[in-house]
Amino acid sequence: MKLSVSEGNPHCIKPLAALQVTGVQVSVHYVNHDERVVPFLNRPVVPALLLPSGQHLFSPNVICRYLFEVKGQESSDLCNQWLEWEATSLQPALQLALHMAVLQGKGSEVSKVLQGHLNVLEQSLSKDNMPFLTGESVSAADVVLWASLYPVLSETSLALGERGSLKTWFDLVAAMHGCQSTAQKVLQGKGLQGMKSYMQRQPVPQSSQCRDAPPCNSNPAEIEDNDRVVTEEEMEAAVLAWSRDLNNSCDSASRQYPILPQEGKRNILLTSALPYVNNVPHLGNIIGCVLSADVFSRYGRLRGWNLLYVCGTDEYGTATENKAREEGLTPQQICDKYHAVHAAIYKWFQIDFDYFGRTTTEKQTEIAQNIFWRLHERGFLLEDTVEQLRCENCQRFLADRFVEGTCPHCSYPEARGDQCDKCGRLINAVELGEPQCKVCKRTPIIRSSKHLFLDLPKLENELEQWLDRSFSTGDWTANAKQITRSWLRDGLKPRCITRDLQWGTPVPHPDFKDKVFYVWFDAPIGYLSITANYTDQWEQWWKNPQQVELYNFMAKDNVPFHSVVFPCSLLGAQDNYTLVNHLIATEYLNYEDTKFSKSRGVGVFGDMAKDTGIPSDVWRFYLLYVRPEGQDSAFSWADMALKNNSELLNNLGNFINRAAMFVTKFFEGRVPVMELQREDKKLLALVGWELQQYIQLMDKVKIRDALKHILNISRHGNQYIQVNTPWKKIKEGDAERQRAGTVTGVSVNMACLLSVMLLPYMPTVSQTIRDQLNAPPSCIQTILQGSGAFVCVLSAGHSIGSVSPLFQKLEADQIEALKKKFGGQQQTSPQRAAGTPSEAVSLPSAQAEVAPVIGGDPEKAKQLTQAVAEQGEKVRALKAQKAEKTVITAEVAKLLDLKKQLLIAEGKKPEPAPQKGKKK
Ligand code: MF3
Ligand code: ZN
Repeated sequence: MKLSVSEGNPHCIKPLAALQVTGVQVSVHYVNHDERVVPFLNRPVVPALLLPSGQHLFSPNVICRYLFEVKGQESSDLCNQWLEWEATSLQPALQLALHMAVLQGKGSEVSKVLQGHLNVLEQSLSKDNMPFLTGESVSAADVVLWASLYPVLSETSLALGERGSLKTWFDLVAAMHGCQSTAQKVLQGKGLQGMKSYMQRQPVPQSSQCRDAPPCNSNPAEIEDNDRVVTEEEMEAAVLAWSRDLNNSCDSASRQYPILPQEGKRNILLTSALPYVNNVPHLGNIIGCVLSADVFSRYGRLRGWNLLYVCGTDEYGTATENKAREEGLTPQQICDKYHAVHAAIYKWFQIDFDYFGRTTTEKQTEIAQNIFWRLHERGFLLEDTVEQLRCENCQRFLADRFVEGTCPHCSYPEARGDQCDKCGRLINAVELGEPQCKVCKRTPIIRSSKHLFLDLPKLENELEQWLDRSFSTGDWTANAKQITRSWLRDGLKPRCITRDLQWGTPVPHPDFKDKVFYVWFDAPIGYLSITANYTDQWEQWWKNPQQVELYNFMAKDNVPFHSVVFPCSLLGAQDNYTLVNHLIATEYLNYEDTKFSKSRGVGVFGDMAKDTGIPSDVWRFYLLYVRPEGQDSAFSWADMALKNNSELLNNLGNFINRAAMFVTKFFEGRVPVMELQREDKKLLALVGWELQQYIQLMDKVKIRDALKHILNISRHGNQYIQVNTPWKKIKEGDAERQRAGTVTGVSVNMACLLSVMLLPYMPTVSQTIRDQLNAPPSCIQTILQGSGAFVCVLSAGHSIGSVSPLFQKLEADQIEALKKKFGGQQQTSPQRAAGTPSEAVSLPSAQAEVAPVIGGDPEKAKQLTQAVAEQGEKVRALKAQKAEKTVITAEVAKLLDLKKQLLIAEGKKPEPAPQKGKKK
């Protein structure tokens, strides 16, 4: 038999201890936490026991019982009852306790969670005066319970209290056949800390799961509320927190310049992927990086972390060269122009960068060339002759993004030259099947030239070791880990880091004089150079992995460059660089039922959002509400209106407005005296729990999930007001008036709490609420920098300001109009045939190029080139949507006709339509 276990997983103590006690012969294998040992389960489960029959057991308690049976000891009813109690009642409480002790540093509160269970054991063991739980000899029940309690009972710092019989039993089992040393080994001799990496992978336990009472000891103090249960202890704790003294120190109010790492603080360096300069970002780009990173950085600052958020435009590359040619400007002028466009859009969206820079700076050249030379000196660069795609028609080498063809790995027909959007793998452009110049749609030729390569195979080992560490100690989204793993599984190949272009960081090596660095080698170095433009002391952030935690935000197509290629550059340069600790990748945001696409101009773009008249905060709210966290999601106008009207207006806004209006109307604008009753205390506990969930989720960058807990609080609040009818009670006797006061006071404090929780999402609304409540600025720190509890920050007598509604209804006709106005068109072009908004696609003019021709009509050719490209895209879109065949045929006919006209305009003789069988 074979037992698979993993280090740091407390559940593995059980079967290992059972092996010690029973002496059954089994070979023990240590595996990784996420290894899929049991083939037919779709999630990793450890411990698992492979039986001689080839079957698996994968519940720790069942494994233990089985081992005792192998030794000839059947489980008694009493033994089974204990095993059940352990699994269904003790475990949930233990999970919560371990979570608090290991991950939240709240060891002192563990005894509250566990005391009921420990008392049950103490009573049972002392009652019959038997050494073991089921009698005179040791059973599976003893081993299982001992093993599950080992992590907490062996940790004296938790101060769980003295229980004589329990202690005698615990020591007795510990001494049996080396149980104790086995358990110590699982925890790697580090006690609770040995479980940290395991615990970080577990879902956050909910205290409501611990409600099951221990056997023969029902707890009458529990109150049902929908599906959450509030215990007496939770209520007590909530009341204590509520009446805590306010912390009036207000140290993080203003931001220092420059922000640098500080001893003893949590120092966080935060980046979002640098957006390409040559295009206007669409909503999908905005939520994918800058907005997500903004929410997290605002949250981090509220939490008192010492945090620097940098970003900037990614400016080099062919796309910029093209845009420049097309607009008749120099590449630098294009960059200046669009950098300003980006900056204005992010400003409108209230993205609070500490610094928004760009990649076309001297610092960039200096740092990129320095990294290059270090890699070169250390032998991490290879030289090779490369075959490259060149479009003779356009007279240039084709950059990866300007060639399209069939993916060599998965046969997806529209793979780009650098990467396949379907399977996510990186591609060398010459490997594409049936390559096509994206500009003129012709087939490029292959030409060779000498280039430099980053020797990824040579760095692979070091990379994997680093990744193991970063995965287990940091927060990587599941897609980021999975994409990275699949990359490594395929084995790394050398990556070309030079290009035959002008617009880029020059390669300083004399043998490669006319070349520049490939953008994907160069751009991530932008994070460093942008920081260097922010402060001369940038190395304190970027060469300081001991003190700094680095978060990278991006959409998932950026993952391999940030998890494999760029870390290899930095590892190879051997200069103690800060490498990514937490890689946060979103999935894709779709637009209505199609894709956002810069190149096709489908979707709402950043500069249009403000023209809708919908406030920036509402845009932020909705984008964050549908943030593609864990799976793709879609922007939809109708849904945006719905969420605005139901969640913002009816739920959140309504609650805050009512609470504040009651203070104004019934209590002359002063917070009334509050005398908490049971129901209020219960509410405090519920709200405190939602706040805890919010904090735990936000700490793990689950931005979308955390937002739902804010809305839960206002839902609780609305219900509370509805049930207690303060507007009626205020007109009744003294007792009722007092009750109305308490309900109003608690509610207005909830409004204040909500404003703080909302701050990262809706900074303006958040400030407006605090202005209306006249809330002290310190309330922010009080709430999020302490233990994260619901504190009464607006005490009796506090005067609030003037109150007004926070949100406006989005009407159906307004939304219809917006949908028409913005649906799927970035710009209109005269050539495009009329169509319904969802199928009408247009091409940004970046794609239109004048082909150099002799004879013919260049002006007309220019127009026709664009028309052909657009028509081609239209056909492609129709095919992708699986439109009706007749419709497609008609559009294809138009396309062929346009192509013929184009050839004429170019001064060439149209040939009989070539039957290449090529995809459109
Ligand atoms: N410009 C790239 C994109 O928009 C992202 C570059 S991120 C960087 O996909 F780190 F490489 F700069
Ligand atoms: Zn071409």
